[in-house]
Amino acid sequence: MTAPCDIGVVGLGVMGRNLALNLRDHGYRVAAHDSTPSALAPLADRDGIVTCADASALVAALAKPRVVLLMVPAGSAVDAALERVVPTLEPGDIVLDGGNSHFLDTRRRTAALTRRRLGFLGVGISGGETGARDGPAIMAGGAADAFAAARPMLEAIAARVGGQPCCAYFGTDGAGHFVKMLHNGIEYADMQLIAETVFLLRRRHGLALDAIADLFEAWNDGPLGSFLIEITATVLRQRDRETGGALLDVILDRAGQKGTGQWASVAALELGVPAPTIMEAVAARALSALQPERIAAAAEAPGATAPPGSPPPPEAYRDALLGAKICAYAQGFAVLAAARDQYGWALELGAAARIWQGGCIIRARLLADVEAALRDPPGPANLLRVPALAERVVHALPSWRRVIADGVAAGVPLPALGSALAYCDAYRSGRLWADVIQAQRDYFGAHGFERIDRPGKFHGDWGVA
Ligand code: 6PG
Repeated sequence: MTAPCDIGVVGLGVMGRNLALNLRDHGYRVAAHDSTPSALAPLADRDGIVTCADASALVAALAKPRVVLLMVPAGSAVDAALERVVPTLEPGDIVLDGGNSHFLDTRRRTAALTRRRLGFLGVGISGGETGARDGPAIMAGGAADAFAAARPMLEAIAARVGGQPCCAYFGTDGAGHFVKMLHNGIEYADMQLIAETVFLLRRRHGLALDAIADLFEAWNDGPLGSFLIEITATVLRQRDRETGGALLDVILDRAGQKGTGQWASVAALELGVPAPTIMEAVAARALSALQPERIAAAAEAPGATAPPGSPPPPEAYRDALLGAKICAYAQGFAVLAAARDQYGWALELGAAARIWQGGCIIRARLLADVEAALRDPPGPANLLRVPALAERVVHALPSWRRVIADGVAAGVPLPALGSALAYCDAYRSGRLWADVIQAQRDYFGAHGFERIDRPGKFHGDWGVA
């Protein structure tokens, strides 16, 4: 009789399969099941993985207390997998949901499984296909004792930075999935900022893709160093096998989305935290998807013309990108702080900055500065108040303003770079425009306004009935 397995993986898509192999490589005995039998085949003859025809066979193959990792698409597939697995489990067993589930679904599922005395962890796993195989970043939430039980396995398979695993526990129920959702919100912003920079360098400088790749490779050695900058340089150099030209030139400018960026934006709105660059990145994808409409509208409208004068030098775009990236981080971390307070999670912002330095899609050199700034709770109210980051922003501002002014004058849409600058300027303005908003609300709705010279609510004598 073979030894019982340490963990069962349900769902053998690319992430599930690679995590199963990663676990096996770290000495864990893995049982695996997928409701599509053909998904089992690639694992069937691999040493150390026990393939199981159904959920009950998988559960029967596990040592007690059992640990089951669900790697199925977010949404109804998670509930369907739970319906198959949960009836075969016993009190004390633990289920991990490693997909990109919505944190409110995770809260609901935690409550349901807790009633059955089962442990449930919502575990955000970032790093895509290679991260899952070689070491992802892992963001866990759920009951602390369930995390304690699963922790050795999760830490073993996670990426490592400075010898530490890129795995952290962020609090009860949906905390881990919330942190992953904000990781993805920042990912959307980061990707859009980079895409706009490439767009500008083409449109305003007429640079060839290889020349832009050279710039990105140089920038990758500085404070912008990150996985996304690195892969963008590779993407820019890629040739198309069919045409022999640049691959980017045959890729449609129309991007899809699975929803996590949108969820992050909704969460920011619900928490009342400004996250305009994350939101603009989501809107930019939606705008990109209007491609047929855009083509028709472009044919109807006169084209944008470049203003006289030369565009800013290429280094100005590097500075703009860095300033905007810091603003996107500031927004994302502000949302995390508000969620920590709203949901009572033991969510350490510094831990997010630490584990995001390895394995995940937004891994970046700059996150070391963010981690240092957030190490001692409660930390700054906003990353723009952190001297080391504020200095970088102040240094970037003149170039950043030139990039935006030139791009706007030339009719180049810059939703993320531009909104980040507006965020930065607004956040650093002691007096904004909202005096007018207060007055308007009082005028038409008698909502009252506050005064600068004494507390209380006041009404204007607007002379309206
Ligand atoms: C990650 C990625 C991963 C996935 C997203 C992409 O952290 O590994 O974020 O979760 O690539 O689902 O989401 P969109 O399809 O919405 O871009």
